[in-house]
Amino acid sequence: MRRPLVAGNWKMHGTRQSVEHLLSGLSKLEFSDQVDLMIAPPALFMQQCREALVGSPIRLGGQSCAYQAEPGALTGEISPAQLRDAGCEYVLVGHSERRSLFGETDEIVCRKFAAALACGLRPVLCVGETREQRDAGQTADVVGRQLQVVLDAFGVGGLAQGVVAYEPVWAIGTGLTASPDQAQEVHAMIRARFAMLDDEQAQCVQIVYGGSVKADNAESLFAMPDIDGGLVGGASLNAEEFGAIARAAGRA
Ligand code: PGA
Repeated sequence: MRRPLVAGNWKMHGTRQSVEHLLSGLSKLEFSDQVDLMIAPPALFMQQCREALVGSPIRLGGQSCAYQAEPGALTGEISPAQLRDAGCEYVLVGHSERRSLFGETDEIVCRKFAAALACGLRPVLCVGETREQRDAGQTADVVGRQLQVVLDAFGVGGLAQGVVAYEPVWAIGTGLTASPDQAQEVHAMIRARFAMLDDEQAQCVQIVYGGSVKADNAESLFAMPDIDGGLVGGASLNAEEFGAIARAAGRA
């Protein structure tokens, strides 16, 4: 059986003070032991989060990483090895904001995935279509292409060592959530694509949904058979909301 994962992507939010407040809220919550939990704070706050979450089931993740594991002259980058050293267990790769605003191609995303795996991190591979692509009926092609590069390099078994996050770009930060049926349709399509290559491994891959997940829509999304939790942006900045979303995953 796949365990659900609820992951919070804090993006470029927070100050030491607001992070302290959020962490104090998170450390008061009770979580089901049936749910995997992760937060991806800005790297500057990783140590602060690590110290505050000692004994908590919430794991740490980076929001991105360099495309190489080895140290080197990459000003401004953080290597997956450094994330691991800082206590991270996960790292997001290929978030749509990285793809659209920072020019990350499928090839770069695949290198990041590889570097993360090599360092013992679980890469969370983000995929998803824009509004225009959905309207043009290209969702399966776009998502398929984003997955294929990593599939070619690592197979389904490699993807099962990470996590897939289906995040329709039109639903990110817009308040427009994909309906449970819309999301399930794509999740099932992704799993079917994996199953054609390796059915056993396909059933093991955690596929989470992201895009305006909130406490009040989480339960209906997580009830879908191929939705294994959520990657939560805005709502993860509120401890109560994050806790409610995690509880919804525990009930699914
Ligand atoms: P959102 O962001 O929940 O604020 O829509 C999700 C994400 O970008 O991972």
